[in-house]
Amino acid sequence: MTLRSALHTAYPWIKTPLIASAPMLRIAMPPLAVAVSRAGGLGFLAAGYDVATLETDLEHAARLVRESDPPIRQAPVEKGVLPIGVGFINWGADLTASLEAIRKYTPCAVWFFGPVSQPDDLIPWAKQVRAVTSGRTRVWVQVGSVAEAVAVAEALEPDVLVVQGSDAGGHGLARSASVISLVPEVRDALAERGFDNIALLAAGGIVDGRGVAAALALGASGVAMGTRFLASHEATIAPGYQAEVLRASDGGISTARSTVYDRVRDIHGWPRRYDGRGVINESYVDAVERGMADEENRRLYVEETMKGDAGWGPKGRMTTYAGTGVGLVRDTLPAGDIIKRVLLEADETIKRLAGERSDTLLTLP
Ligand SMILES: Cc1cc2nc3c(=O)[nH]c(=O)nc-3n(C[C@H](O)[C@H](O)[C@H](O)COP(=O)(O)O)c2cc1C
Repeated sequence: MTLRSALHTAYPWIKTPLIASAPMLRIAMPPLAVAVSRAGGLGFLAAGYDVATLETDLEHAARLVRESDPPIRQAPVEKGVLPIGVGFINWGADLTASLEAIRKYTPCAVWFFGPVSQPDDLIPWAKQVRAVTSGRTRVWVQVGSVAEAVAVAEALEPDVLVVQGSDAGGHGLARSASVISLVPEVRDALAERGFDNIALLAAGGIVDGRGVAAALALGASGVAMGTRFLASHEATIAPGYQAEVLRASDGGISTARSTVYDRVRDIHGWPRRYDGRGVINESYVDAVERGMADEENRRLYVEETMKGDAGWGPKGRMTTYAGTGVGLVRDTLPAGDIIKRVLLEADETIKRLAGERSDTLLTLP
């Protein structure tokens, strides 16, 4: 079976190339996840590192799916599977507490990211999720290097690897390459070891159809996008944050990778190999350029939280996690329209390139 038909079998409602919305902590909640799947993508609900509200969130998602008109297409064999995935941040998420909710709602996929020990900590997660859902919940893992991809493939045989490059918004490996070299090197490394059956999705800096066409050329079956969906109607996001995503441009300059955004927000669980990409603001400038101590920087951050939406922006201190593709995000749209537009653009790009290629061939001596 080709990777494309395997994806169609597992997720019968999807259009290909597959577009997944990333499980962004506190932002990718049921309305966004369900809207993405309803439009032919695969929406992920963010469970994050504290799964206290997972069951309530899944109940909410299940209600939105039931109310979907037209319904989200399910093959008979997959009846009873919730057509959204759930993303865990494994350094903090509790497996036992998560399993009951997974068993009860059977999301179509789980997405693992950020274990303390990669891949060892993920082995019980994959085994037990597959056991409680009889394999109906597929296993996805987000990785950021060739070594991680090979280790995870060998230890878990995931259904999908989300290959995250350095342009990605939010957390990722501090030492990382962009998808332009990472995805093909991962594809080759997996092929050499007989893992051609694992689908790859490229993540990091992809916000439009041109990026999707590029991801396919690199050997991916689709993409996972986070930053683009920050500017969607269904994202659970402060207006100040969303306005900053629309304002920022030239993402290689206006965003940076750092741990400062975790430190000012008093989040200390991330394994040392991770940092996070966000739009540069006063927290960053104070820490990196002015050498401000964390304690003072955090105090100023806490003060800033009182300002509401005015706290975002280059002169503000509220964190704007976003990827380098932020400059290509220029409008806020319903998530379904984002999927439609990106798929159309990808199709046009591929057709245009195919046309240009034929012209070249015709002019060769
Ligand atoms: C605001 C934000 C929050 C994120 N939160 C998570 C998360 O909770 N779990 C996770 O696996 N990845 C998270 N990510 C990373 C995404 O999974 C993905 O790798 C990234 O968004 C892809 O790059 P892009 O933002 O350029 O599309 C987050 C990304 C952003 C922008």
